[in-house]
Amino acid sequence: KAIHLSDYTPFGWQISQVELTFQLAPKATRVTSKISFVPNADAPSQEFFLHGEQVKLIWAKIDGETVTPTLSETGLTCDVPQGAFIWEAEVEIAPEGNTALEGLYMSNGMYCTQCEAEGFRKITFYPDRPDVMAPFTVRVEGDLPVLLSNGNPSAQGDGWAEWTDPWPKPAYLFALVAGQLEAFSDSFTTASGKHVDLNIWVRPGDVEKCDYAMDALKRSMKWDEDVYGREYDLDVFNIVAVDDFNMGAMENKGLNIFNSRYVLASPETATDLDYARIEAIIAHEYFHNWTGNRITCRDWFQLCLKEGLTVYRDQQFSGDMRSHAVKRIEDVLMLRARQFREDNGPLAHPVRPESYVEINNFYTATVYEKGAEVIGMLKQLVGDDSYAKALDLYFDRHDGDAATIEDWIKVFEDATGRDLGQFKRWYSQAGTPRLDVSDDFNDGTYTLSFKQKTPATPGQDQKEPQVIPIAVGLLNPNGDEVQPTTVLEMTDAEQSFTFTGLSTRPVPSILRGFSAPVILNRDTSADERAFLLAHDTDPFNKWEAGRALAKDVLMRMVSENTEPSAAYLDALRAVAVDETLDPAFRALAMGLPSQDDIAQSLFDSGVTPDPDAIYRAAKRLKRAAAQHLLADLPNLYGQMACPGPYSPDAKDAGRRALRETVLSLLSETDGGAQAAVQFAAADNMSDQLSAFASLLSVGAGDDAVASFYDQWKDDRLVIDKWFSLQVSYAAPEKTAALASELTTHKDFDWKNPNRFRSVIGALSMNAAGFHDPSGASYTFLADWLIKLDGANPQTAARMSTAFETWRRYDADRQGMIRAQLERIAAQGGLSRDMGEMVGRMLGS
Ligand code: ARG
Ligand code: ZN
Repeated sequence: KAIHLSDYTPFGWQISQVELTFQLAPKATRVTSKISFVPNADAPSQEFFLHGEQVKLIWAKIDGETVTPTLSETGLTCDVPQGAFIWEAEVEIAPEGNTALEGLYMSNGMYCTQCEAEGFRKITFYPDRPDVMAPFTVRVEGDLPVLLSNGNPSAQGDGWAEWTDPWPKPAYLFALVAGQLEAFSDSFTTASGKHVDLNIWVRPGDVEKCDYAMDALKRSMKWDEDVYGREYDLDVFNIVAVDDFNMGAMENKGLNIFNSRYVLASPETATDLDYARIEAIIAHEYFHNWTGNRITCRDWFQLCLKEGLTVYRDQQFSGDMRSHAVKRIEDVLMLRARQFREDNGPLAHPVRPESYVEINNFYTATVYEKGAEVIGMLKQLVGDDSYAKALDLYFDRHDGDAATIEDWIKVFEDATGRDLGQFKRWYSQAGTPRLDVSDDFNDGTYTLSFKQKTPATPGQDQKEPQVIPIAVGLLNPNGDEVQPTTVLEMTDAEQSFTFTGLSTRPVPSILRGFSAPVILNRDTSADERAFLLAHDTDPFNKWEAGRALAKDVLMRMVSENTEPSAAYLDALRAVAVDETLDPAFRALAMGLPSQDDIAQSLFDSGVTPDPDAIYRAAKRLKRAAAQHLLADLPNLYGQMACPGPYSPDAKDAGRRALRETVLSLLSETDGGAQAAVQFAAADNMSDQLSAFASLLSVGAGDDAVASFYDQWKDDRLVIDKWFSLQVSYAAPEKTAALASELTTHKDFDWKNPNRFRSVIGALSMNAAGFHDPSGASYTFLADWLIKLDGANPQTAARMSTAFETWRRYDADRQGMIRAQLERIAAQGGLSRDMGEMVGRMLGS
């Protein structure tokens, strides 16, 4: 059942040309294919096998002669001639009943596709693997005004359109869209003067919500030219927004398909965070045109080759567009919340996994986010110039290839002359390294000593030392920097580094910019953390000092029931009112660590986390902060108002973020009075939603729940927010009941992934509510996972990760979660997706 990296063998044929014709009909779409196969001289001889699932074969021919292939659940085999031959077939599929949203499916009357990773085999019989690349010509026939596929439009008539994609591509990049759509159009001229038509296709009525995505697209195109020297390579670039989509978006060649929440935005309906995500995801999918499409992956084990690199590129882009400091902090927050969590549990796996049962289960934070961190480390180790050289060589050498991580590493070795053999462990070794630090000062010499240790992960008991770039700076006790940032290269299990010629013992700032995805352990006093928060010149570590301080305080509040420390509250106030700091940074520095983060840290320190106690401590700390800042809050709130019309730019968004933090503290002291005023007056979704959240969090949201629904009941994306916010802010003991009640609401459509996530996903992220000692949330989630698994395995399996932290908790909770996991595992007809996830979480 499991597929192994070590078993890779090339396909026995190459494809020189693919021609497809679609006759669209909801219940019975006909797909005719004509595929030119040529023997692959580099492959061992093998039986001719084409993938095909849930497709009904009508007829098949080889070189014009009817053949009778042997069919199975997963595809077909057939006797084929020795040399080159032409395969033709007609199949029937039923897009309307396709609730898995994989292959060709329907969303609100519109046809669309999702083929990555292995969806094309649900469209027709084909070698559905990324190392088989071919140029496609596609004819779409249907009684719909807009008929789209990959590449350039090559011909059209009444009820049909033909598309030609000259760039050889694997089947996972195939796309087709047909529907009653309207375009928001623009154009872009590339650096070499080529004109490109740009269209964003949406349902009528949504055209006014495309301007920001279009702007982000044009900026992405320009940025990839300026920074990576990459131009676009077709006459047209189409983007389509669909409401039913399992993931965020998909980089199909020349025809990106997006979850509509990552395209559509207006000031009234989208928050600052929505705008930032739209910008990042538009860029991400566009950047895939080179890192993913022109150079693709040999097999799915190499997924990080395209995803890690493309995430890294979209992070650089967002940093350039907004603020590098703020972007880095946000990225690390997300890395810790999702990837560290994954890496520390039963689902831990290497950035390049070595086996899988269902590849869709490996579109993970580890492959994407840790994959991006690995690129960032590589860049720090070789330097910016060598990175640029290596990337040029990569595009030059591998354009048109289905490549591997070995190819990627080799490019860096050849460009720099470095041996990256040890560095490569970042791709094969799972788990988050722990980095213990001690220091010593003697006679003007300062020594930093590091020990690295990576805990065992499933299937990997022994870990070897990694190459860890440790960016370090030193400060004098008066606050001056005596050693600007330098990158130490740790390669051994234990290693020391010295700094000489110092007059006094310095204060170290270690792992600046979060230079490696590790957990840094160092006994540091609250005073030293407060000192770094006040003086560190590295914005990431400045923030990190405050975060560490807050974490220490909160953990002691939980485990020793202490009072919130005055040192922390003073430091918090100092940051809040420091007008030399960017408001966005201040907002981040004032945020409390998440309850899930505290639970993991307590567990790591040998304490069994009690989600309820963590919830109460976080509430107490928030109230104490509100009291401590009481005199400053109204003033700050006024200062951070953004006069004039709404603009989604980073500057205003930062002010609104700080204002939101202030409002949420203020609400702890005024019972939501100010929030109610803001809610009523808001002319943009950021202000409206932050007020709504504040009201809910102090239990004063009833009126807002009703009026928000009335105002927005016709806007799907906003109603998703309405569902999710209520569940996110529900009191722990009421979370399961509320979520359950919301699933009976007439607007709850469980087959729509966004809506499903807005209730069931929100429940799983409400830490105290999810882990309520009654176990009600566990049962509720398991019930829904079982139900959704029957319709949409991919989204169900993804949501099952809510249970991945189960071994952190006490025996009662563990027992209840285990029982739910076992109940799911025992279901008849469980999907391969869910079966694998539950099996791994149970450790079987
Ligand atoms: N390649 C897409 C992206 O990261 C993600 C598609 C994942 N889809 C899936 N079914 N696993 O942009
Ligand atoms: Zn991607």
